[in-house]
Amino acid sequence: MLKTDILVIGTGLAGCIAAITSADAGKKITIITKTNTILSGSTAAAQGGIIYKGISDTPEKLIEDITIAGAGHCWNPAVEQLATLGPKLVKDLLIDRFKIDFDKNYNEFDLTAEGAHSLRRIIHCKDLTGKYIQEAVLKTLTTHPNITILTNHFAVDLLTLSHHSKNSVDIYKHPACFGAIVFDILNGSTFPIFAGKTIVATGGVGQLYLHTTNPIEATGDGLALASRAGVRCFNLEYIQFHPTAFYSEHHTGTRFLISESMRGEGAILIDKNGKEFMNRFHPQGNLAPRDVVARSIQTILFETNATCVYLDITHKNNEWLKNRFPEIFKYCFDTGIDITQEPIPVIPAAHYFCGGVGVNLNGRTSFQRLYAVGEISCTGVHGANRLASTSLLEALVWGYTAGKDASISKENENYFPPIYDWVDENETPDSVLIFQDWSSIKNTMWNYVGLFRSSIRLQRAIKMLRDLQMETEKFYKRAKLSPEILELRNGIKSAIAITNAAISSRICRGAHYIEN
Ligand code: SIN
Repeated sequence: MLKTDILVIGTGLAGCIAAITSADAGKKITIITKTNTILSGSTAAAQGGIIYKGISDTPEKLIEDITIAGAGHCWNPAVEQLATLGPKLVKDLLIDRFKIDFDKNYNEFDLTAEGAHSLRRIIHCKDLTGKYIQEAVLKTLTTHPNITILTNHFAVDLLTLSHHSKNSVDIYKHPACFGAIVFDILNGSTFPIFAGKTIVATGGVGQLYLHTTNPIEATGDGLALASRAGVRCFNLEYIQFHPTAFYSEHHTGTRFLISESMRGEGAILIDKNGKEFMNRFHPQGNLAPRDVVARSIQTILFETNATCVYLDITHKNNEWLKNRFPEIFKYCFDTGIDITQEPIPVIPAAHYFCGGVGVNLNGRTSFQRLYAVGEISCTGVHGANRLASTSLLEALVWGYTAGKDASISKENENYFPPIYDWVDENETPDSVLIFQDWSSIKNTMWNYVGLFRSSIRLQRAIKMLRDLQMETEKFYKRAKLSPEILELRNGIKSAIAITNAAISSRICRGAHYIEN
């Protein structure tokens, strides 16, 4: 048994900023991650950059761009908070405190563009922005005297008054969370971490899909934790597909991202016959909002009976290209494509979860003592389709506001009721079944709950997923815990939550595109 002021689940940017902010305020923090290194989550894979401010930029212009990209479904107070507090925190934290060396041209930040931005306002560290940011933030996290880090620790379930308290009358109280049941992957023990406040920062859901830009740990754990506990989640139907993930016929699963900032710097999408096509679909052409570009590519694939389209940036100066996009250059070169000489094969892939655990401006959920930050939260900023390079900014802003709020708000944070003991089971999970079940989830979600949806496809998906869930839950109840069985259980739970949301959401909007 362990007790802490604040438990943070997840070590991406949002979780780290929340932990550091609360620790600065004097709270004792325990931060856990299921991975065996703290350098985990999607932060490090964010190539493009982070919104700061452009020449003649204003918060109003940013708000307008976010709202248009979000298909009018954004929550204005959240967008305003992002647009006003965001650039200030980039300066105070990322530039001044963590000393991140964003690229400059003659002492001015090198501003880049991405889809649906009306001007250049994104700062970057070549094409490795997220990695540079995360590494810098982790230096502070790992040396902070108030922070304890536990890698290889998997949050099994949130501890809630309604599900875990032995005091039966706790069911009448306002729903609240008082920590989590945690599985220690290395020694196989399961134990509670009691916490005054709990902050869920577990990242996205990309691994529910056959093709994704997300790391392998993005299995929808936070959505499953919150859904099982009964925490309010919404906008789950809005899964954003990135238009340009690297295509190779030999590869499925996590696909390497080809940053949208490449199109911001002039790259052009062409079909297998070398024909440019985006102007046909949207007045902003190659820099249209992401949902539009991803669907246009899919349409071209159907029309031309092709497996991929291509991104062409060969018209740029070779040395400039290698220096501006070193990571993309290297990855492509190692797989046989010289991007200075030939176009890059690309396809859309699941990229970002615009919905999630509903939160207010301080990251508070519908449960007392429970916060959510980063990709797994739904602040309302992204609406139905996220504007590029808002995710790191949102992680920074809500990590900060949640960290501050969690270190001051009270809400009976010292109430820790007695709980039932955890009972270990001992049946060994069958790895073949687990592999096959994941394959069913990924194919079902990709084909039926993907870029183009229909009510028939969604109904088929929910039936298959429910059958799978029944089998898996039976098995879970007898199984010796392992990360694989926990991820599978979470993956199915999240896939069902997303599919149900897609079925109930009748309006075709942004990333939720229903054909009939
Ligand atoms: C990209 O560089 O294209 C990804 C950045 C983002 O998703 O905001």
